[in-house]
Amino acid sequence: MHRLTLTGLALLSTAAYAEAPWGKVDLSIAPALHEKACIGCHARMYGSDGSKMYTRDGRMLSNKLELLQRVSSCNATVGAGWFPEEEGSVAAWLNERYYHFEN
Ligand code: HEC
Repeated sequence: MHRLTLTGLALLSTAAYAEAPWGKVDLSIAPALHEKACIGCHARMYGSDGSKMYTRDGRMLSNKLELLQRVSSCNATVGAGWFPEEEGSVAAWLNERYYHFEN
């Protein structure tokens, strides 16, 4: 039973994430969301616009799903109150600008 559930979940996520885990998103909403809720902290740590957070040596992420999960947990931590589509948009936008993960 337990194994079946896990297999089912794995299949589901494979299907859902065949392309990008964020699906189709509107990238145009990302910069404003990101600027409002995210840059302040990263910029205090790394200076200028804070984007070094995403390009630094030893950065923590290695694929799209981890990026989306990180955006989602940052959203929750800082209480930005984003909807999943907004998290997806910012994750996709960060990937396009900084991470360039293929999968
Ligand atoms: C309260 C300060 C703060 C705010 C606000 C904040 N972050 Fe972060 N963020 C951090 C810190 C600190 C780290 C690095 C954590 C570490 O090194 O373990 C980080 C790391 C990250 C990373 C991973 C960087 C890497 O290593 O590749 C991403 C992606 C990220 N934040 C996205 C966001 C997003 C999206 C928001 C807006 C919803 C946000 N952060 C808001 C403090 C913040």
